[in-house]
Amino acid sequence: MCGIVGYVGDRNVYDILIKGLHRLEYRGYDSAGVALETPEGKLNIYKARGKVSNLEDFCKDKDLHASAGIAHTRWATHGEPSDNNAHPHYSQDGRLALVHNGTIENYKVLKDALIEHGCEFKSETDTEVLVQLIEYIKITNKCSLIDAVREALNQVQGAYAIAVLEKDHPHEIIAARKSSPLVIGIGKDEFFLASDATPIVEYTKEVVYVKDGEIAVMRKGEGLKLLTLDNVEAQIDVAELQLSISQLEKGGYPHFMLKEIFQQPETLLDCIRGRVVDGGKTIKLNGVEDNQEVFKNARRIIIVACGTSWHAGLLGKYLIQEMCNIPVEVEYASEFRYNHPVLFDDDIVIAISQSGETADTLEAIKIAKRHGAFVYGISNVVGSSIPRETDSGTYIHVGPEIGVASTKAFTGQVMVLTMLAMCVGRLRGVLSEEKVEEIGKCILEVPELVKKVLELNKDIERLSAIYTYAKNFLYLGRGYSYPTALEGALKLKEISYIHAEGYPAAEMKHGPIALIDAEMPSVIIAPYDHLYEKIVNNVQQVKARGGSIIAIVSEGDNEISKIADHVLEVPRVPECLTPLITSIPLQLLSYYIAINKGKDVDMPRNLAKSVTVE
Ligand code: G6P
Repeated sequence: MCGIVGYVGDRNVYDILIKGLHRLEYRGYDSAGVALETPEGKLNIYKARGKVSNLEDFCKDKDLHASAGIAHTRWATHGEPSDNNAHPHYSQDGRLALVHNGTIENYKVLKDALIEHGCEFKSETDTEVLVQLIEYIKITNKCSLIDAVREALNQVQGAYAIAVLEKDHPHEIIAARKSSPLVIGIGKDEFFLASDATPIVEYTKEVVYVKDGEIAVMRKGEGLKLLTLDNVEAQIDVAELQLSISQLEKGGYPHFMLKEIFQQPETLLDCIRGRVVDGGKTIKLNGVEDNQEVFKNARRIIIVACGTSWHAGLLGKYLIQEMCNIPVEVEYASEFRYNHPVLFDDDIVIAISQSGETADTLEAIKIAKRHGAFVYGISNVVGSSIPRETDSGTYIHVGPEIGVASTKAFTGQVMVLTMLAMCVGRLRGVLSEEKVEEIGKCILEVPELVKKVLELNKDIERLSAIYTYAKNFLYLGRGYSYPTALEGALKLKEISYIHAEGYPAAEMKHGPIALIDAEMPSVIIAPYDHLYEKIVNNVQQVKARGGSIIAIVSEGDNEISKIADHVLEVPRVPECLTPLITSIPLQLLSYYIAINKGKDVDMPRNLAKSVTVE
């Protein structure tokens, strides 16, 4: 949510910032801006509403020479998307420029106090309050920028990642973080700064992840300096970046989303590599192995997550209850943090997050830890905040996911939850060796089966044309197919802006059935499983009301296929693995409907990939 880039050094500052903003555009794209400091110490700020390309157009005839710069792509929180509200923001005397990611919760109180002291504000943002506050402290206390930043940050409540430039300091950037990610790339006589490592990867592999409550001082020609909010020098831990540029490009696909859908055979293979071993007889998850007693003795598991990750979590409930016989609750992290959670010290909290940065999930983790629960993380982004905050965990290892609508991360999360349930089920003696081997063998086949499902691509593209007219969709499933239905509906909503509801198929008769008519298609997820006969009845109920039906069924199906208007056949797998297979056609269907409607699938309106605000 909002992306920050910074650079100080001898390269072309503007080019690095713009390229970096493009990489971070998935975090927000309603306005963008740059602050460039010339070697002579002059500060120039350029901003434009809309995507980074608008900013580039705006900057065409501007003075772009610089020795340091900071830039920002915004996802609006305080104040509408506009040129004025875009970052960077100037301080009153124009000597400071600041970009900010996060929210300053006490901005109103601070703003009122600053107005009393004669400050005038040009925007509605909480960010401008911060830059004015820093300036006010700097002038009043006659102190350095670093001291003023530290003092100001000690006064603000909320979350932030910031970067500041000061007029007449052409070779310096000051940055800081609390609850919003920030990473520094270290080059030769130069520093890169960004919300994640993607803008940095082509210049250096040496990175430092700034920790909560740290202020970074980047001065050309000097070593990196990290200070705490109490003005104590902090240790610098340099990490090696495990990321390649090709992972960040579209690789011949028209959109990242399509690339990521088609990557799933490989990403699932990467996810199970070294974890499903001995031909499927053994499941090895270090996070579980290292904490055997905790998993053996757990009385309850609570899963916290948001969005698509929450849907994966719901599948986790079905998997863990079936394979481990442990009660599982699944909570939206945003609700969990405020619903007075009752936790015991033999509870395990599993936090699921692709980005590893979602603010609500991070807060839920902190609450769980305060209550003494053991917290296990399932994340994709190595080195992100959630893996660092949790007691143990597993990476899904599906590579960078850039399309805002999550696809390969979802199947990676479901795969990790499947392996986790098997591991823990075996550990607790609920799952027999034979059962583990039976499922384990099938897991090894999943990547190839997903490849086969992807062969439906052309059929789904054709099918999508028939249904692009629809204003509403119903997605129905039972058992493991119910969370899959929720996820299918979410995918369609996110990128095509068609209203879609996921429902447990049997629950439909208690309400949504009233919506069904010839205009409202239903997507029914009905692979062969122990609820198959039951869902046949639900399909009949839709048909009887004149609704059209797209059914996702197992190969060889001969009941639902006869009733549905359109059928997509997928390979048969054990029931617990069906979501890994049936979710793929749903991803493609959403993609093509959105394309037919001319929507920007990689950057859907109002959404952002990484939600670092509450
Ligand atoms: C945003 C994204 C979703 C994602 C959700 C949770 O809403 O657009 O795709 O599922 O955040 O993100 P996380 O990184 O925690 O999985």
